[in-house]
Amino acid sequence: MTLSRRDALAALVGSAFALTFGPLAHAEDKKITLGFAQVGAESAWRTANTVSVKSAATEAGINLKFSDAQQKQENQIKAIRSYIAQKVDVIAFSPVVESGWEPVLLEAKNAKIPVILTDRNIDVKDKSLYVTMIGSDFLEEGRRAGKWLEERYKNEPGPINIAELQGTVGSAPANDRRAGLLEVIKNDPKFKVIASQSGDFTLAGGKQVMEAFVKTYGKKINVVYAHNDDMALGAIQAMEEAGWKPGKDVSVVSFDATKGGFQAMVAGKINVDVECSPLLGPQLMTAVKDVVAGKQLPKRIVTEETVFPMSVAAEVMPTRKY
Ligand code: AHR
Repeated sequence: MTLSRRDALAALVGSAFALTFGPLAHAEDKKITLGFAQVGAESAWRTANTVSVKSAATEAGINLKFSDAQQKQENQIKAIRSYIAQKVDVIAFSPVVESGWEPVLLEAKNAKIPVILTDRNIDVKDKSLYVTMIGSDFLEEGRRAGKWLEERYKNEPGPINIAELQGTVGSAPANDRRAGLLEVIKNDPKFKVIASQSGDFTLAGGKQVMEAFVKTYGKKINVVYAHNDDMALGAIQAMEEAGWKPGKDVSVVSFDATKGGFQAMVAGKINVDVECSPLLGPQLMTAVKDVVAGKQLPKRIVTEETVFPMSVAAEVMPTRKY
């Protein structure tokens, strides 16, 4: 049997993992302890993600140690160090930002504690510092939003001025949702990103940034490109307070597809919501059990997602789980 280059690489990564961590010494009847370092509680998405992780751990019979980093990388690093000191079986975390993880992940590797990334990716050269990454493809999400914009404005000459509400600076979803949009619109000069600022993925942040955009750019803005629903909802408040009609005289593009996002679509205030699922708990617990059992895992597990334009919102809303 001949292996494709990809399969051969996967096998190599798998055996490198087995060599690094060995078959984990774990008595069959002992409860697995998982240390989970969460980003914070910045958004409705995050709240749903925390609920998913906690309830999946209970259901899987996994002993969960949970910490909230309040959107600060240093808090997450402290939490990971404390999980290493407590000798948990597996560490999982959703990294606040992409860079700066090598030292602490090396400490985990030296302590032979496998690390699983969920939701957000990291930027490290040595991929053996983590076992797998479970979550969305944020770059693809940005492309999906860009394609929706191209279609929406295909018969308009432009300029189409975009005001961007970015997520947390340096985070994977903020970097990739921006990059995905730019990749799609780069060959169409009618689209221009005229303003870009971080609202840190919060409703209050989105509102504050949008208030400033309204003052500086006024009705030059054709599109609000918000990196999540909470910021989109904050921006909607700011626009309405300025007497604008979000969703009508300005297109609002958002991410997550939470219940709040759907309600705004049904009310005609968000035009499209690109789905990003927070319900990662069950997949994470399966991965934790597999790692402890010494099974090989794919390096990347991508969540399946779609795009919801405003036109389908009323019909789909009753089926939404977060
Ligand atoms: O990492 C996922 C992002 O983080 C979600 O889009 C956002 O709502 C959350 O805070």
